[in-house]
Amino acid sequence: MLNVVVLVSGGGTNLQAVIDGVEAGTIGNTRIAGVISNNQNAYALTRAKEHHIPSACISPKMFSSREEFNERFLEEVDRMKPDLIVLAGFLVVIPPAMIKRYRNRIINIHPSLIPSFCGTGYYGLKVHEAALARGVKVTGATVHFVDEGTDTGPIILQKAVEVEEGDTPEVLQRRVMEQAEWRILPKAIDLIAGGRVTVEDNRVKFI
Ligand code: GRF
Repeated sequence: MLNVVVLVSGGGTNLQAVIDGVEAGTIGNTRIAGVISNNQNAYALTRAKEHHIPSACISPKMFSSREEFNERFLEEVDRMKPDLIVLAGFLVVIPPAMIKRYRNRIINIHPSLIPSFCGTGYYGLKVHEAALARGVKVTGATVHFVDEGTDTGPIILQKAVEVEEGDTPEVLQRRVMEQAEWRILPKAIDLIAGGRVTVEDNRVKFI
């Protein structure tokens, strides 16, 4: 059984896709051990409570230093005993000690086809604004392992989505969520839960 802890900051639609997948059995051999947010108003926390999933809220704002937050945050994550940590719209920088401890056991969903429109400053609507500004005809989403960089870890799954005439950033964001994010994040967790994913030479291989 894969113990998954999901880290969230916002509406939690990706969390909901994971919850639905676990409950429907399309994500096999998995249980969501807990949800942690840095934002006490995150609707994602409401979704966790509605599905009787333990949740916690811990924010850098609660501490006098980032080092103190990093230590406390890692303790909170460890307490839930994750086999896999899923960043689903989590907007806080992951402590280096946590990346080391959970090497290739932390995954993130990013709303573009990495290496396009990613890295520092590219999150949420900003990603789609940049894609529209560049005039790309295709965008999409990526699930990748988290390493010390920003959106730089080994890529697990990607799914392309058409950009349509007249798209606004909000319309494009919704299409990328519906057609890509909410499909490849559950799929990636199911593959990992089934022992189908390995990392060799910093690239993902399926077994
Ligand atoms: C999604 O667009 C995801 O790609 C990005 O942050 C957003 C989170 O949305 N990482 P939600 O909280 O899952 O609805």
